[in-house]
Amino acid sequence: MTVPQHVAIIMDGNGRWAKLRGRPRIYGHIRGSSQVRPIVREAGRLGVKFLTLYCFSAENWGRPSGEISILMRLLEKYLVRERKTLMENDVRLTAIGDISSLPQHTLEALRETIALTARNNGLTLTFAVSYGARQEIIEAVRTLAQEVRSGVLHPGQINEEIFHKHLFTKTMPDPDLIIRTSGEIRLSNFLLWQSAYSELYFTEKLWPEFSIQELYLAFEEFSRRKRRFGLTEDQPQPKLLEANPPL
Ligand code: FPP
Repeated sequence: MTVPQHVAIIMDGNGRWAKLRGRPRIYGHIRGSSQVRPIVREAGRLGVKFLTLYCFSAENWGRPSGEISILMRLLEKYLVRERKTLMENDVRLTAIGDISSLPQHTLEALRETIALTARNNGLTLTFAVSYGARQEIIEAVRTLAQEVRSGVLHPGQINEEIFHKHLFTKTMPDPDLIIRTSGEIRLSNFLLWQSAYSELYFTEKLWPEFSIQELYLAFEEFSRRKRRFGLTEDQPQPKLLEANPPL
């Protein structure tokens, strides 16, 4: 089995999972959040280097305030409760997105866990929170425009590598595999620049049902894919953009 270097997951279907059981959506989020630990552990054990989880999109701020506050509380609880396990498993936590808009408590828990795990060398676990790919691209364009205006950059110097260095994901390679649960077949504003050559895997399983077995199925499917990056099968694979060292 080929283990992808960078796996990104759109954890979808918590609400439907709860509804099928006649329970409130919150129940699905609680179950969904307890599904994160075994997936993180197994991904690390299998040798995945980067695991990026879409926890809360920029658009999710439009959900009912009660649901938003439950999601924030679940995130905070995970960040505190899992510290020991993250340390034991050598997992480094990072975050992408407009994290400054998180409630103070959640932001503090996030910053503390990031700082605590900063020297770990195993799996890099990235939480995409208040994340939107279009917003990320606009932010990069804005910074590049300022650099051009101040004279530190010439427009002709802007290339894929320079652009990559202005994204939230500058310290990681592009995802090899993007998994979306719940049968929806779209990217929903997730890693739009970075997914140019990602393999996409969609499963009908709802996120609370996404077990280690399901992760294996996704990796098996990934192993069967032929990645050509626009070239022919006989040509050597192009050198992919490397991750930049952490700041
Ligand atoms: C999508 O399901 C899921 C989310 C918007 C949030 C994902 C959050 C978790 C898995 C729990 C918290 C995360 C951590 C890391 C502790 P949905 O609500 O859109 O489901 P639906 O499409 O069935 O309504």
